Amino acid sequence: MKAVIIEQTGGPEVLQFKTDHPVPTPKEGQLLVHNNISGVNYIDTYFRTGLYAAPKPEILGREGAGIVAAVGPNTTGFQVGDRVAWLATGGYAEYTAVPADKTVKIPDGVSDEDVMASFLSGMTVLSFAKETYSVQKGDWVLLHAAAGGAGFLMTQILKSIGAKVIGTAGGAEKCALVKSLGADVVIDYRSEEGKDWVKLVKEATGGKGVDVVYDSVGKDTWEGSLEAVKRKGTIVWFGNASGPVPPIPLPKLSPKCVKIARPTLFGYIETREEFEYYTNELFSLLKSGQLKTKIHKIYPLEDIAQVHKDLEGRKTMGKPLLKP
Ligand SMILES: NC(=O)c1ccc[n+]([C@@H]2O[C@H](COP(=O)([O-])OP(=O)(O)OC[C@H]3O[C@@H](n4cnc5c(N)ncnc54)[C@H](OP(=O)(O)O)[C@@H]3O)[C@@H](O)[C@H]2O)c1
Repeated sequence: MKAVIIEQTGGPEVLQFKTDHPVPTPKEGQLLVHNNISGVNYIDTYFRTGLYAAPKPEILGREGAGIVAAVGPNTTGFQVGDRVAWLATGGYAEYTAVPADKTVKIPDGVSDEDVMASFLSGMTVLSFAKETYSVQKGDWVLLHAAAGGAGFLMTQILKSIGAKVIGTAGGAEKCALVKSLGADVVIDYRSEEGKDWVKLVKEATGGKGVDVVYDSVGKDTWEGSLEAVKRKGTIVWFGNASGPVPPIPLPKLSPKCVKIARPTLFGYIETREEFEYYTNELFSLLKSGQLKTKIHKIYPLEDIAQVHKDLEGRKTMGKPLLKP
């Protein structure tokens, strides 16, 4: 089968496209899925560079949508031919053996593409807006990288709750996209004026600061996020797009009694019940049209190095997908 393998960590050049990789055999508790479409997430670059550790050789890609091609021994709940989405590892391939307990049937009326544009990212933003910090109507929320794969969905979820959203994004086109989603204030944090985004956030909130910051940019924004949050506010650091947040001396949190969180989606969907809760919520938002998706581009599998370059080069809006 076609697959992209990495044998060592490094730049996009370590992604090797193969056409003769063996199709995996599903073990107990697993399904073999013939992927129609796979998602590319920023986390894939962390496993490629080694920021996050995983055994190599590895096939990257944390999610896929396709058809069940085989069912492993003693595995229940699925049949060959079911149209499913899964969350595991190995999406940069035509076929993936995935755990059945992290696989779900896609309801009629929802396309594979819509699911892949919102599966990992959408469950992330739904769980973070509900459990990490419970966003309330009227809250001021600062969201960085608001035009990205996760950001595009998060902006909509926050607005649907009734929050007042300040979205940051790099460049006019991305800012226009965030504005079109109903964000109350949009800041181009790469422009001359927007570089002082902390000041703009303070101005927008009458000098108080925001109730919560969702910061997935990390190294370049963490200090500003700490300044922009209000007294007794919360900061959710959940990504490393510019590099990780360094270890923070805890006394830095004292003057404003700030709460911080560093969540991961996988911590909120560990049990089958939790996984089904968020997949059901996501599918119902997609089906009703309340949540719109944005696909940056669907790339052929052999162009995977370009996808990573585009993501790390801040060239994508919405979600990049792969056609295995
Ligand atoms: N903790 C979790 O469970 C979890 C789950 C999902 C995602 N995440 C995190 O959420 C973030 C978004 O993920 P995503 O897949 O949707 O990616 P994405 O937002 O589509 O892409 C990352 C964006 O970050 C911004 N950025 C700022 N500084 C950057 C830099 N120095 N280099 C590259 N990009 C930079 C860019 O937007 P601008 O050009 O607008 O600045 C870029 O488009 C990532 O940090 C990811 O790790 C975490």
